[in-house]
Amino acid sequence: MLAAYRGGRSERLPVWFMRQAGRSLPEYRAIRERAGLLEIGRVPELAAEVTLQPVRRYGVDAAIFFSDIVTPLQAIGVELEIRPGTGPVIASPVRSARDLSALRRFEPAVDAPWLGEGVRLAVAELDVPLIGFAGGPFTLASYLVEGGPSRAQTRTKALMLSEPLTWRRLLERLCDIALDSLRAQVQAGAAAVQVFDSWIGSLAPEQYERHVLPVVRRLFDGLSELGVPRIYFGVGTGHLLELIARAGPDVVGVDWRVPLDAARARLPGRVALQGNLDPAACLAPWPVLEREVLSVLERAPERGYVFNLGHGVLPESDPAALARIVELVHTFRREAAGVA
Ligand code: CP3
Repeated sequence: MLAAYRGGRSERLPVWFMRQAGRSLPEYRAIRERAGLLEIGRVPELAAEVTLQPVRRYGVDAAIFFSDIVTPLQAIGVELEIRPGTGPVIASPVRSARDLSALRRFEPAVDAPWLGEGVRLAVAELDVPLIGFAGGPFTLASYLVEGGPSRAQTRTKALMLSEPLTWRRLLERLCDIALDSLRAQVQAGAAAVQVFDSWIGSLAPEQYERHVLPVVRRLFDGLSELGVPRIYFGVGTGHLLELIARAGPDVVGVDWRVPLDAARARLPGRVALQGNLDPAACLAPWPVLEREVLSVLERAPERGYVFNLGHGVLPESDPAALARIVELVHTFRREAAGVA
């Protein structure tokens, strides 16, 4: 998998699933009956156990450390909860220059010693690479400004357009939080990092270029000294692909709206690809799902490619279907399929 992230190819295609841990697994739901989501993150043994669950069950080629994108915010004192069926809800939204004081520097060793410890425990038990992750600056800003999940991030964009200096300071702080969190995860053994900037697709190209890209570029520059592959993912980014590549990631995660061959043609050769099965396909009967997986594989690049979904696993997915996807991807032979 790491070779594929570096642009290489292997006989067997690597595969993992975004949000592979969590509610789709009965063994996760059993632990969740005893502990809240953020609580699991603060107990290294539980976080490591939940991180390993999908690797055992699916035979995926990577684990992703179990946590949430808002975990570092809570660790620096931002009052929040994760509401089931809704997502992160922030007690005091950030909407002015004054509110920025709630966002101090994140010091993982002091604020979240369980983070490095959970990563170390998971890595010690894994025989596949562990991916560390953080929320992207725009996506975290959207939760902070809106006070919770939102469809179109309208308040966030209004702040971005009307108070560019406050906006910039907010994003710079979130960039530092992501950098410090990812550095701690890599120091504890993570072999790659993924930045989930899930909601950037709501921005026009000019908006992204002007108000977000410079900060994300600083994030990826800062990550380069860690020496691990750096993945950048967002949903609905077909109109932003070229700009996203300019942020400097090694790997771009694309959703199902852009066929992989089209994404390949638009992105620079140095960038590897990850994706992009529609998570909804996992709810279809196997013959339909199989056809959808094959159609992704047939459009996949020859090298520098890791199979994944185009967004996270849906909680109602059948674990048996995900296991069959892994088997199909692992046994797929591009030559046999007539793909050059
Ligand atoms: O397996 C993995 O991928 C690791 C775990 C992980 C979680 N959150 C745990 C979680 C990861 C990578 C995330 C990232 C995350 N969190 C993102 C980026 C990825 C994406 O889907 O776009 C975002 C936007 C969030 C914010 C968030 N946290 C949402 C929207 C939700 C869903 C709320 C719901 O109930 O539908 C959460 C909660 C959450 N984070 C759950 C899990 C397993 C489910 C709720 C629970 O177990 O209580």
